Amino acid sequence: MPTIYRPAFHFSPPQGWLNDPNGLVFYKGLWHLFYQHQPSQITHGPMHWGHAVSRDLASWEHWPIALHPDELGTIWSGSAAVEERDDGTTQLVACFTQAEGARGQVQSLAFSRDEGRTWHKYEGNPVVTSERPDFRDPKIFRHHGRWIMVVSGGHEAHFYASDNLFDWTLLSTFPSPQPGWIWECPDLFEIDGQWILIVSFIVPGGSVAEGSRTHFWIGDFDGERFLPRSSPQVLSFGPDDYAAVSWSDAPDDRRVIIGWASHWAYANQTPTQHENWRGAMTLPRELSIRGGTLCQLPPREVLAVRGEAIAFDESGTDFRGDAYEIQAEIDIANLQGPAGFRLRVGAGEATPVLFDPAAGELCIDRTQSGQSDFHADFAGVFRAPLEVEGGVLKLHIFVDRCSVEVFAQDGALYGAALIFPSENSRGIEFVGAGTRVKGTITRLAHEEVTHTSKT
Ligand code: FRU
Repeated sequence: MPTIYRPAFHFSPPQGWLNDPNGLVFYKGLWHLFYQHQPSQITHGPMHWGHAVSRDLASWEHWPIALHPDELGTIWSGSAAVEERDDGTTQLVACFTQAEGARGQVQSLAFSRDEGRTWHKYEGNPVVTSERPDFRDPKIFRHHGRWIMVVSGGHEAHFYASDNLFDWTLLSTFPSPQPGWIWECPDLFEIDGQWILIVSFIVPGGSVAEGSRTHFWIGDFDGERFLPRSSPQVLSFGPDDYAAVSWSDAPDDRRVIIGWASHWAYANQTPTQHENWRGAMTLPRELSIRGGTLCQLPPREVLAVRGEAIAFDESGTDFRGDAYEIQAEIDIANLQGPAGFRLRVGAGEATPVLFDPAAGELCIDRTQSGQSDFHADFAGVFRAPLEVEGGVLKLHIFVDRCSVEVFAQDGALYGAALIFPSENSRGIEFVGAGTRVKGTITRLAHEEVTHTSKT
């Protein structure tokens, strides 16, 4: 079957449905990516943990499904970590929500002693329960000699501690600025002495631009409670980066995250059903804090996998493609109107990614991007303020069959949006009358490696 939307260099499932990344853990040279998976249908259904591994965060190898539903329920989102045992050996532990069973949403454990190949659920599951109907997506990590769990409880984050992974004590709760929002997929970690709390919010009745996006706070964690120093900010200014969480136990204190490139408003309707898959991940992004700003960049491993870079300037390019990367520096000192690119250009179709100097905003406009009739609110323009210092607009853009991702000003701003253009909409146009651009385009495709199946 011809596939025109199946990503060439982003992770997507071998078949069936995918949503959140789960159980992200680095162990013995492999980046493990588990994910919310329903292998036999292309809509959300009884969830399993799908599993893939990568040595370079660029190409992925599918491994067998790691966790299947059981009498406690289906397997919803959660985390994994390396556990050091008393005998000096290590094993992997996964902590996840079981849902849709008689006991509601509860937190369970599973262990792997063979480097993630097979998993054994703890016979004493569940290990944490609550009266709340929404109580899910535990993230566990080691902190000062004990385990901490952050889990979403309705519209709050709940923090627990444990010495042994089995017995947990509630430490504190972190309340929502908006009581109506539903919190999902929390994550908590430290970068350069600053703590980042990540939470994905569903805003009931919210617009596509508001609802279903990953947010973060910068603050402190004193071992018991999270103390914010900022109000919540969105991680991606595009609509399609949900449930983003980070890898545990990454080498050299690196903090790499990945999100689900979709949105609950239309996730079950995106037009990939003829290709027998639905749902893909964003690119992995490495986090750092620069001048108080949380920055996101493609990890060096992703950038190492490269074909030939084709140079272009303001006279344009006749490059055509559906899976490539653009790196550009645009001189905006004397810019009169918007500057940037029109991507996936074809008959009546284009996806502009433009900086508007008057508004000081970057936008991704998918109103004319291709198919959008599967959901009334899919077509839209997504904007964010962007500070451009020194008169040089730096854009690093990834286009992959059904998505556009933009990193601006060395990662100070990131945005991801799904698009569903016609197969022949492959043109690229530079926008920026009277200005200069220096750039390169590199074709990207790792599909052979990405979809090698072991199962
Ligand atoms: C987030 C989420 C999680 C839940 C999972 C179910 O997208 O709703 O809260 O665990 O998806 O698939």
